Order: sequence, then structure tokens, then C-alpha cells
Amino acid sequence: MLRTTLLAAARSSTCRTLVERAPITRHLVSKYVAGSTLADALPPVARVTADRLVTLDHLGEDVADASQAEATVDAYTRLLAELGRSGLAERAEVSVKLSAVGQFLPHDGEKIALDNARRVCAAAAEAGTTVTLDMEDHTTVDSTLAVLAELRADFPWVGAVLQAYLHRTEADCRDFAGAGSRVRLCKGAYDEPASVAYRDKAEVDRSYVRCLRTLMAGEGYPMVATHDPRLVGIARTLADGCGRGPAGYEHQMLYGIRENEQRSIAAQGRRMRVYVPYGDQWYGYFMRRLAERPANVAFFARSLVSD
Ligand code: FDA
Repeated sequence: MLRTTLLAAARSSTCRTLVERAPITRHLVSKYVAGSTLADALPPVARVTADRLVTLDHLGEDVADASQAEATVDAYTRLLAELGRSGLAERAEVSVKLSAVGQFLPHDGEKIALDNARRVCAAAAEAGTTVTLDMEDHTTVDSTLAVLAELRADFPWVGAVLQAYLHRTEADCRDFAGAGSRVRLCKGAYDEPASVAYRDKAEVDRSYVRCLRTLMAGEGYPMVATHDPRLVGIARTLADGCGRGPAGYEHQMLYGIRENEQRSIAAQGRRMRVYVPYGDQWYGYFMRRLAERPANVAFFARSLVSD
């Protein structure tokens, strides 16, 4: 119930104004977001890349016009040029939301997003790194996978996110378990109806394990995006059972979440990548993080009413 309310609030402009103005917000946001600008984000990225890998997300989603989509492409182009120039591209890639590069624009949105994502991929190739497409709500999955297929024709290393809470994802994992594919498997962060998604945590976890089994047994490169200690352990066991060495898959977690565990996985010689978001469009991302953690919500709600 609380999760559903917060995820609805993530799309409300009234709630957005209230949350953005709350004094406590900056403090909580800084736990999950590396800064408002690229210059702010670079020191934390340099710190994280000392022992872990990184994927950078320039925050933003659901752009309303072509000029905003163009601004997103510019931001990624500048980011990728900086990664190439500084040498960070060896340890840092980027994650892109297609809705931030025009996927929902009324005329030819998917084509605009494809063209824009292609420009981001070309900048990544120039810098010597890779791109992974984030996955948004279930209505975007077919379109995102269609764009992925087009991009992979020119940039075979482009990766995608699949969400274990969707009923369709086991089949998608079978389709994407082939040689060369890079799949980031997460549980899923949106409020989805029971007609398309498992809504019970235990069912989502069971689906995650089935999907992971398929990816680990396949020929692609699985990216295990979860903070759930049980699933992290199962991923290792499956990887070992499938004869994957430490270079044959990677763990991924979000900036600001379970950092000690991130460091411990890296210290064991396993690949550990941290998803580092930055930028001033943090509202939707932040609300999804609140929705995942009831303890944060209680703290945040108390500060809103006592203001
Ligand atoms: P779960 O929610 O069960 O959490 C396990 C434990 O992790 C918790 O008990 C707690 O200790 C800790 N934890 C989890 N969330 C926390 C939080 N917000 N604050 C503090 N502690 C927290 N989703 C999506 O729909 N599309 C996408 O493209 C992506 N991309 C993505 C990339 C990467 C690298 C990661 C790690 C995750 C995503 N996600 C995502 C988000 C994902 O779907 C999911 O919502 C979160 O990872 C939380 O689920 P867990 O698997 O961590 O399990």
C-alpha cells in the first residue's frame, strides 16, 4: 500500500513540489545521488572506481519535448568525453533511460529515441566503454527491446535491463541468453498490475532465481543487480555451478546502498559495479528508492509534517 502510494507520488507534480522543498530532502537525496552536476559526480566516481566498477546515470525521464531529449544526449556526450579523457572509461560505463531521449514523444517517439540512443552509443564507442538501457514500466518493454535490437546491429555490446517481477521476463531471459548479450537482471521498481507482474515478494524472488538460472546457463554476460543477500549468494552458487569464473558475470548495486557489502564482494576478487546517478532531475529516482525502504519513508514523512 505504502509502496503503491509512493510510486504514484513519483508521477505527481504536486508531490514533487512538496518533496523538493522539504528541508530534509537534500540530506536524504545525497545518500542516493552523487551530485547535481558532472563536476559534483566525478570525485565520488573516482572514489568508487578505486575498488569497484561503475555505471553512470544522468538523471531524467519522461522528457516532454525534443529539446529536452537533445539536452539529455548532450549531457551523455559530455559525460562520455570526460570518461574517455580521464581514463575512467576503463572502469565506468553509462546507463540510459529511453524515455529521457524521447521514447514517449507524440510523433515518432521510438524513432527519435533510437536515433538519440545511437548517438550516445557512438560517443561511448569513441570513449572506449559501453551503454546499458534501463527498463521503465511494463508498457515500454517491447519498445525498449526493439530499440535494443536495432542498436546491437551496430553496437553489439549494448546491454539491457530485465525485471524479474514481470511474468514475461523468464521468456525474455531465454531470448537474451545468447552469445554477446549483456543482461542486467533486477527485481523491478515500478508499480505494476497483477495482470503483468508478480506482486508478492516471495514470487518475485522465485522468478528472479529462475531468470538467473537461465542467464547463468546461457552464453551471455549476466549482470546481477540486487542488494538481496540471499539472491547474491544464489548468483554465486549458480555462476560457480555453470563454470563461470569471476570474469564471467558481475554483481551490481545502487550508489549509497549496502556499501560495505559492495566493498566486500570486490575484495573477494569478484566484479562489483555500482550504479551512480547524478543530475538535478532526481525526483522520480529518489521516490523509487524511498518506496523500496519503509524505514526511510517513516523518517522522511515525520520531517515533512514537523516542518
Ligand atoms: P530488496 O528490495 O528485497 O532489497 C534487499 C535489501 O537491500 C533490503 O533489505 C535493504 O537492506 C537493501 N535495500 C534495497 N533497497 C534499498 C533502498 N532503497 N535503501 C536502502 N536499502 C535498500 N529497476 C527497474 O525497474 N529498472 C531498472 O532499469 C533498474 N535498474 C537497476 C540497476 C541496478 C544496478 C540495481 C541494483 C537496481 C536497479 N533497479 C531497476 C531497481 C530494482 O528493480 C529494485 O527496485 C532494487 O534494486 C531493490 O531490490 P533488491 O533486489 O535490492 O531487493
